[in-house]
Amino acid sequence: MKNLVNKNNFPIFSGRFKKMVYLDSAATSQKPKEVIAAEKDWYENHNANIHRGAYKLAEEATELFENSRQKVADFISAPSAKSIVFTKGATESINLVAGAWARYNLKKGDTILLTEMEHHANIVPWQLLSKERGFKIKYWPISQAGELIMSNLDELFSGVKFLSLVHISNVLGTVNQIEKIISLAKKKGLVVLVDAAQSVVHLPINVVKMKADFLVFSAHKMLGPTGLGVLYIQPDLFNQMKPYQSGGEMISEVGFKSVKFKKVPWLLEAGTQPLAQVFALNKTIDYINKVGLKNIKEHSRSLTDYAYLKLSEIDGLTIHGPSAKKRLGLISFSTKIIHAHDLATLLDRKNIFIRAGHHCAMPLHEKLNVPATARISFGIYNTKEDVDKFIKELKSILKQWSQPIKKQF
Ligand SMILES: Cc1ncc(COP(=O)(O)O)c(C=O)c1O
Repeated sequence: MKNLVNKNNFPIFSGRFKKMVYLDSAATSQKPKEVIAAEKDWYENHNANIHRGAYKLAEEATELFENSRQKVADFISAPSAKSIVFTKGATESINLVAGAWARYNLKKGDTILLTEMEHHANIVPWQLLSKERGFKIKYWPISQAGELIMSNLDELFSGVKFLSLVHISNVLGTVNQIEKIISLAKKKGLVVLVDAAQSVVHLPINVVKMKADFLVFSAHKMLGPTGLGVLYIQPDLFNQMKPYQSGGEMISEVGFKSVKFKKVPWLLEAGTQPLAQVFALNKTIDYINKVGLKNIKEHSRSLTDYAYLKLSEIDGLTIHGPSAKKRLGLISFSTKIIHAHDLATLLDRKNIFIRAGHHCAMPLHEKLNVPATARISFGIYNTKEDVDKFIKELKSILKQWSQPIKKQF
């Protein structure tokens, strides 16, 4: 298995944490030099507020900001840059759809379909809105293997107006059959939101082929800056969008008693935007394109397959979710030998950083009947050696914890 990129291109791997094995990219990814440099470059060479200044620096800043919108649109094959709204993360993108679309376009008694494998970001906004507006929520069940049950979809979709589902589960790693699901949902007239927070860095995304109405992701999980997210909106829905937040920038005219709004996407971007971050996202996409999404996908596939094989050889360990070939980028597991939190703490002592807990998916853990799982997840900088080090230490901890405690007296 070849290394995909030079780890030294990610400064964090040559700084204080030189020796770390970072296996928590599903929480957030590390950043390449190019992305860090871009944020600095913005403040040193381009900083001015956008859409308002009449001077050169501000005009150029506006152009750079709107170029980034086009870059993101091209990255996910969106038909127009106007389909791209900047938010502060996948969480805010979902809240925006709840507050600026569902609030006005669904009626009391309408049913929203979520799946049992959603992140809290794709559950809680719908619970709150449903309480307020009298919508019903239905959950799409998963199988023992951690996949959406695909039989009887006609019945599942019947009476449903809106489906919001994850592309790759952040706990199970399951890659949902998104194109097939959306094509069936469209036949039943559903509007569909795809949570691509975990998939956008592992797979090429084509919103047109996918036929998504809304698609959300966060820049920070795809090697980009924190504090920035993306919402894609299918152009037919532009006219159904109402203001989300209000204030400066999203208006075309304000009087003491009246207001006229701008159109999508600017309607949905109130106030000063995360300018340096949007600029850095542009450079992140350049970086990803340079490495190549095809190569990234192959690299994620090799690491996932290899780690899955190694973990499945360990006695007393339960891997949650489907077989290696039906998942990508991450593996969660549990064992009766040691609690996930203790395991993560002991691995930390060896400079191996993994995630333990419910990973913002408590209902899913309830379904799996485990209080917590341990999760390893991969970025483009991970190597086979990272997996080997992790497996070696994991085995040693499990061996130690399996031994009976010696009598003291
Ligand atoms: C599947 C999924 N959806 C949504 C989110 C929320 O992303 P953010 O915290 O960047 O808004 C996450 C974060 O872990 C996630 O894994």
